[in-house]
Amino acid sequence: MKVLLLLALLAVSALAAQKRYDGYKVIQVKPKNVASFNALAKLYKEQNSIYDFWTEPRSLDESIDIMVPPTHAKEFERILRTYNLEHRVKIQDVQSAIDVSRKDQASPTNVKDPRSRSGSSRYAVNWTQYYDYTAISVFLAQMAQAHPDIVTLKTIGKTHENREMYMVKISNTPANSNVTKNAIIVDGGIHGREWISPAWTTWLINELAENYAAHPQYVDNLDWYILPAMNPDGYVYSFADDRLWRKNRNPVNGPCVGIDLNRNFGFHWNEGGAAGNGCDQTYHGPSAFSEDESANVRDAILSVADRTKAYLTIHSYGQYWLTPWGYTADLPEDYPLLFDLAQKAVNNLTAVYGTQYTIGSSTNVLYVASGGSDDWAKGGAGIPYSYTVELRDTGDFGFLLPAEQIIPNNLELWEATKVIAEFVMEIVN
Ligand code: ARG
Ligand code: ZN
Repeated sequence: MKVLLLLALLAVSALAAQKRYDGYKVIQVKPKNVASFNALAKLYKEQNSIYDFWTEPRSLDESIDIMVPPTHAKEFERILRTYNLEHRVKIQDVQSAIDVSRKDQASPTNVKDPRSRSGSSRYAVNWTQYYDYTAISVFLAQMAQAHPDIVTLKTIGKTHENREMYMVKISNTPANSNVTKNAIIVDGGIHGREWISPAWTTWLINELAENYAAHPQYVDNLDWYILPAMNPDGYVYSFADDRLWRKNRNPVNGPCVGIDLNRNFGFHWNEGGAAGNGCDQTYHGPSAFSEDESANVRDAILSVADRTKAYLTIHSYGQYWLTPWGYTADLPEDYPLLFDLAQKAVNNLTAVYGTQYTIGSSTNVLYVASGGSDDWAKGGAGIPYSYTVELRDTGDFGFLLPAEQIIPNNLELWEATKVIAEFVMEIVN
C-alpha cells in the first residue's frame, strides 16, 4: 500500500514538472485569399514562438493547424475576424489531449520487462507504445548483438547534452570484399515531438535484420544506414519536460533554448523560412552546422555519400512525400525522376489502407524553409533521391498520434520503402 502511494506521488511529481498546455487550442485555418495567406505567413515567420504552427502555411485554400495559447486567444480571434478566415477548433484543450495520450508512452518499468504488453518482442521496444531514448538505445545494442552478421552499431558523436548519437549500418557485405553496393540513408527524430518517426526507424531496423529471411534481397543488394533519432536531447525533453518540444536543447539564445536542426543544414542556409529569433520554433542557429547534432549527421552522411542514392528523412505530420527544394520554389533539374519514384512509392503505400499522401517539392507543397537536411543531402552531399516524408496523420491527433497507429503506419510505409529500395538496387553507377 505504502509503495503504491509512493509510486503515485512520484508519478504526480513527474507530471508536475512538465510544461502544461491548459487552455491551448489547435485551430485549423483556411486562408482563402492572398491577404489572409500573407497574414498567416507573417505570423509563421515572425511569431512562431507564440503561435506554434503544427503545420506550415501551405497555399491558398489549404488549411493549416496552429496552436494558440490562451493568452493570445483574443488576438487570434481578431486575426480570424479581420481576414474572415474559415476555421475549426481541432483540439479544444491540448493539455487534455496530452493527458489522454500518456497511455501511449512506455514507462521505464515497461521497458525493463520486454514481455510487457504485446509479449511479441524479445527486445526493449515493441511498437505498441512510444519508447524513450534509453529504450531505443538498448534496442539498438540488442539488434547489433542478435544479428552481428548484418547489424553494426556505430556512434557518430555526442549531442549538446552529451548523449551518444547512433547510426545503424545494415549490410551483409564482408568487410574485406571489394563489392560495393548502393546505399540508402534513413533518418528520423530530428524534431523531438514527432514520436512516430523513431517508432518507424526502429521498426525498419527490426524488419531488415530480424525479418531478413522474409525478404533477403533488400539486404543482399543494398547497404542501409539508419539514424534512428537525430535529436536525442529534444526527444528526451519531449518525454520528460515538454511533450511539444521540437528543437535541440542548446541554450545559446538568451532566455530561450534550442535550434531547429532542420533549419541548420548548410545548403542555402538562412535563405528564407527560417527564424533569426532564438525563441522561435524555426530558429536557424548562429551559423550553418553550428549544432553538434547537425554536424555529426553531416559527417556521418558524408562518410557514405558516394554510394548513397536515396535519403529519406522522416518527420510528422501531414502525410506528405516531399522532394527538394525547400529553399526555393524552383525545382531541381531531375524533379520528374524524383516525382515519378515518389509516386510509385506512395501508390504502394496507399494500396495498404487507403492512406493518402501529397507529393511535391517542399516549397511548393508547404512553404519555403531553408536549411533542411533534405536540401543539403541532395545539394551538398550529392544524394540524388532525397525526400522528406511527413507521416500520419493529417491533424486529428497531430504529434499526439495514438500508439495503436504505429504498426499500421509502419506497415504502409514499408511498402513505400520497398519501392525506393528496389529502385536504388537497380541504379548502375
Ligand atoms: N515540416 C518540415 C520542417 O519544417 C518540412 C521540411 C521540408 N524540407 C525543407 N527543406 N523545407 O522542417
Ligand atoms: Zn519535423
